[in-house]
Amino acid sequence: MTDQNILPPLTQIPAYLQTVADYEVEAQKHLSDMVWQYLQGGSMDEHSVRDNLAQFAQIHLLPRMLKDLTQGHTAIEILGQTFPHPIFVAPIGHQQQFHPEAEAATALAAEVLGSNMILSTFSNTDMRMLKQENPYKWFQLYWQGTREKSLALVQMAEAQHFKAIVVTIDSPHTGIRDRERRVFFHLPEGMQHPHTPTHIPLPALNQGDHPVFHGLMKIAPTWEDIAWLSEQTSLPIILKGIVNPHDAQLALQHGVQGIIVSNHGGRVLDGCIPPLTALQLIKKVVPTDFPVLYDGGIRRGSDIFKAIALGASAVLVGRPCIYGLATAGALGVAHVLKILKEEFEITMALMGTATVSEITTDYIFQK
Ligand SMILES: Cc1cc2nc3c(=O)[nH]c(=O)nc-3n(C[C@H](O)[C@H](O)[C@H](O)COP(=O)(O)O)c2cc1C
Repeated sequence: MTDQNILPPLTQIPAYLQTVADYEVEAQKHLSDMVWQYLQGGSMDEHSVRDNLAQFAQIHLLPRMLKDLTQGHTAIEILGQTFPHPIFVAPIGHQQQFHPEAEAATALAAEVLGSNMILSTFSNTDMRMLKQENPYKWFQLYWQGTREKSLALVQMAEAQHFKAIVVTIDSPHTGIRDRERRVFFHLPEGMQHPHTPTHIPLPALNQGDHPVFHGLMKIAPTWEDIAWLSEQTSLPIILKGIVNPHDAQLALQHGVQGIIVSNHGGRVLDGCIPPLTALQLIKKVVPTDFPVLYDGGIRRGSDIFKAIALGASAVLVGRPCIYGLATAGALGVAHVLKILKEEFEITMALMGTATVSEITTDYIFQK
């Protein structure tokens, strides 16, 4: 698509948009090639991007029949908070690239659908724009290089009534994204990020210093910083980007109250274990009531069911929300969330599960 042919966002939803896959095709028509490559791309050979999608086909559903489902519902509880359903909106930065209303549109759609929205540190929309009284919002923190700067963002989120802090820890360095490099990806000049500069100042390198290990790695957070942060805030700290069971155990030991199993949509470390496999390894080593959320490759309501059957407390949806945003702003995001919600509900009904807590490994068969 040449940039002259970019279509404006739709103002109503045509009947040909019925699935997340339909939205993926449509979204490309509404974005420049550079932004499309940024959205779709992963790191290096994109094995992880493909694995994230392919892993769901390895799991088959094993439904039960003739059960009474008349008391059915999709509500869940995490850390004392009740959510109408387990479909959360993943943090995605710089959303103005996809639609002028950016995160404000995504947040509106999430609110209407009762989806818990995780707002990125790199939001173009000020966190104060999200409705204070809407309880379904968490704030995603990228470590700001120092404890003081990181805590300042956490305190701002506390003041705005966000209910948890999601610290993303899997990208102390950006991934090597060949697609982005090929199209000279850059953010638009003058793009506003109300909470943080996009580039944290790097420590000055002395002669002989290593650009990676004495550069970004010097300002990357450690377990001690996470333990410290959890003592500074009354909000629960949830770590996003855990895939190793040892780290899941360390999280528990450092005051963390939940984790999100994720490989960042395959965008950071190519060849990283598929999160559905990681989820199963992690569930073996953490207490059953420890919240373990799942993130990556959710494109169908049946994917949500499978992740929950393998132990996820809830799932995050990333790129599909942006397909909706690029296609038709808040309306598009709302429709994407509605599609996933409806597919999940009907899958539950066909599987013979009346509540989310009933969804267990008894209902799946792995090839
Ligand atoms: C364009 C883009 C921007 C992202 N920005 C962030 C971010 O700011 N913070 C973060 O924690 N994760 C970020 N992620 C990762 C998502 O939160 C999520 O882990 C990933 O998209 C899940 O995979 P999915 O797209 O297959 O659902 C980003 C992902 C994409 C595609």
